[in-house]
Formats: sequence, structure tokens, C-alpha cells
Amino acid sequence: KASPRLRKVMASLTRHLHDFCRENEITVDEYMAGVDLINKAGQWSDDRRNEGQLLTDIIGLESLVDEITYTLAGEAADAQTATAILGPFWRKDAPKRQMGDSVMIKDMEGSDHTLMHGKVLDLETGKPIANAEIDLWQAGPNGLYEQQDPDQPDMNLRGRFFTGEDGVYSFYCLRPTAYPIPVDGPAGKLLTMLDRHAMRPAHIHFILSAEGYKPLTTQIFDRQDKHIDNDAVFAVKDSLVVEFVPKKGDSKAQYELQYDFKLISY
Ligand code: DHB
Ligand code: FE
Repeated sequence: KASPRLRKVMASLTRHLHDFCRENEITVDEYMAGVDLINKAGQWSDDRRNEGQLLTDIIGLESLVDEITYTLAGEAADAQTATAILGPFWRKDAPKRQMGDSVMIKDMEGSDHTLMHGKVLDLETGKPIANAEIDLWQAGPNGLYEQQDPDQPDMNLRGRFFTGEDGVYSFYCLRPTAYPIPVDGPAGKLLTMLDRHAMRPAHIHFILSAEGYKPLTTQIFDRQDKHIDNDAVFAVKDSLVVEFVPKKGDSKAQYELQYDFKLISY
């Protein structure tokens, strides 16, 4: 039996799509081109590539539902670390790493390295959260995530770190590089047809989780990036924009980033 929610949203979706077709006098040929785009996106997708998501991201749908979800969470959400979209490149079961380790399995040349550190905190009490998981992923200096890049080893630039009693975390990663979303597929083709650029400002992705707390999917963005106000998938939020600070006396990193994550308890 159809759930009331499914009934409601499908009726609404149908109504809006019908209105869209009437308003724009969509022809059979245009409709077929649209169906073809959806089919192509599916054909391009597998466990390494989520073209359907890419397609909806370039028209801002994931960013929109992120904002709606965040707003639904109510006032408390205002003070927690802001959420941001998941994007198509997260992989489950990233390797567990020791605090202070690097996510670079392979020497990564072409980008500066960063020591990122801080605390995971309870929003309400300000107390550290023990055993919080920080799952992060980022692209290489060539702008490719490990699963897109035959030159990177499996699970490179990914890792899961767990805080101790003090809520502290630290790891080495790359200072992220700006890069285009993949333009070799249907989503990229559409962008090009619209004379739009494909660049995302330099960012690092995170999913934070801890027992008793709401999981948090987010990204941080490099303030110095020239695309910071012009993200192809509309994910930047002011509070997620950070400054990488030059670091002296560490042979493993040229930059440092201190950042605390604040989670809401259930
Ligand atoms: C998208 C998100 C990313 O983080 C990325 O690296 C590429 C694409 C997206 O939302 O489609
Ligand atoms: Fe990304």
C-alpha cells in the first residue's frame, strides 16, 4: 500500500512536471532528448561514478535539499557545524587510521600538505566527544578522486579517524585543489551546452558520526580559491570557508588548519 508521503510527493512532482511541459511547450523531440539524458546518466553510473547525482547537482538540487534538511533540524542546527552536500565520490569502508596519520598512501606531489587538527565537540555542552568518527575524502592534485584515477592506490586520500577521550583529532592531508566536476559524461555535456564552467572550489569532504549524535555530512572550502563564490554545484556556505595557515618546522606539512566540529546530540 502506497505510503501517504509517497502519494503526496509523486502527485506534486507530476503536477509540477506537467506544468513545466505546458509552460515551455515541450515537444516530443525535446522530451526524448530529456529521457535520453536520464538513460545516459544511468549507463554512466556504477559504484565508482554517480552520474545521476552529478546531473541533479549541477542544477542545485542536492544543495537545496541539504538546506531544507538543515532548516528542518531547527534552531539548534544554526550553531552546529553547517552541513554540505555529500557529492558523488564518497566510498564506504574507508580505511581506519591512527590519529596523526596521513591519508596519502602514495607520495602526492603537486599540492601542499596540511596538518589538520581540532576537536569534535558537543554543541550544547561544549564538551569533547570521545570515539567520534571523522571520515574524510579529497581529490588529488590532478583533481581526481582515487576511484577516478588509475595512478592512485585504492582508498588513497580517504580515511577514518577516531577521537580519544579529549575529542581531539589530527591528520595529514593535502591542501585541496580546485578542480572541475567530471565533464566527460552527460552532466558535463549539459554544462558545456549551457556555457557553464565545471569548477568546484578547493574542498575536503567529511562525514562525522558519534554515538548519541546526529551524523554530519559537510565540506570545508579554501578561502583563497578563486571559485569560492562560484561553485558549479552550489555547495559553499560562509561558515565552512577556512584559511589554511603556513606552517613552519614540520617536514610533513607546509600548511596547518585548526577546525572544530560541533555535533548535536539526539
Ligand atoms: C560534486 C561534488 C563534489 O564534491 C565533487 O568533488 C564533484 C562533484 C557534485 O556535487 O556533483
Ligand atoms: Fe568533492
